[in-house]
Amino acid sequence: MTPYVADPVYLNGRFLPLAEAGISPLDRGFLYGDGVYELVPVYSRRPFRLAEHLTRLQATLDGIRLANPLDVAGWTAVVERLIAEAPWADQSIYLQVTRGADNKRDHAFPPASVPPTAFAFSSPLVTTPADIRAVGVAAITVADDRWAHCNLKVISLLANILARQQAVDAGCAEALLIRDGYLKEGAASNIFVVKDGVLLAPPKTSFMLPGITYDVVLELAACHGQPLKIGEIHENELRAADEVWMTSSTKEVLAITTLDGAPVGNGTPGPVGERMWQWYQDFKNTVMRKG
Ligand code: PDD
Repeated sequence: MTPYVADPVYLNGRFLPLAEAGISPLDRGFLYGDGVYELVPVYSRRPFRLAEHLTRLQATLDGIRLANPLDVAGWTAVVERLIAEAPWADQSIYLQVTRGADNKRDHAFPPASVPPTAFAFSSPLVTTPADIRAVGVAAITVADDRWAHCNLKVISLLANILARQQAVDAGCAEALLIRDGYLKEGAASNIFVVKDGVLLAPPKTSFMLPGITYDVVLELAACHGQPLKIGEIHENELRAADEVWMTSSTKEVLAITTLDGAPVGNGTPGPVGERMWQWYQDFKNTVMRKG
């Protein structure tokens, strides 16, 4: 059986087999979901946009008032060792930091003497098969009932989990989150819309995770002269779109061709999305070659 998590994993300063990695059941990640995470894609054993992922990790840690247990050099060394020891060329590196384990359960922060828990591991990067990409995926819309700090990449993901499961139960790949009539993002992705050749992107607010892939897409649009408008997208604009895509570190750029059972545009992946996917692949390959 192909393992999903490579050995060794990283836990609190040590590299050890997953089977030997243990944390206290009093860990606040377990008790409260009190922690943060990142997921860094790795292509040909090179981490993609690692600096940006580590910057977002720091921003999330600042947002929940938790000191970073490692500096950029420290995290980079962890990531490089995990990549080197994993059996796959393309990987996804998961990083997590929680507020550690006190000797009791109390909502307020533990004393400063309680160290955070830092955990990281490599898995194989699971990308979308070409035959699925060719037809696109189906999505549903759901009410966005998350909290007001969705810009923070925290591990307490229950609202996202329930939304995503609603999509899975409906035979769909993603749930698009609508708040007060406006599209915010997907349960685990950012969402873009195309109308009359113009790429529309929701703005970065506290109701959307600032995706690393989202930034790459905006950069590629600017670089290739793709007309782009950043602004709130009403649910009606979403339903009238020619194209809808989801983006994330693992999905890259993936067309949503059915929304709530109705075709998006003509029901097939559109030309703007196809171009963006190709630009994304070219960009990735260029970056990976440069190192
Ligand atoms: N999720 N929005 C949400 C709510 C997400 O969970 C993600 C990614 C994104 C896209 O971010 P990025 O482009 O940086 O991957 C947007 C990751 C992949 C996850 O939870 O596994």
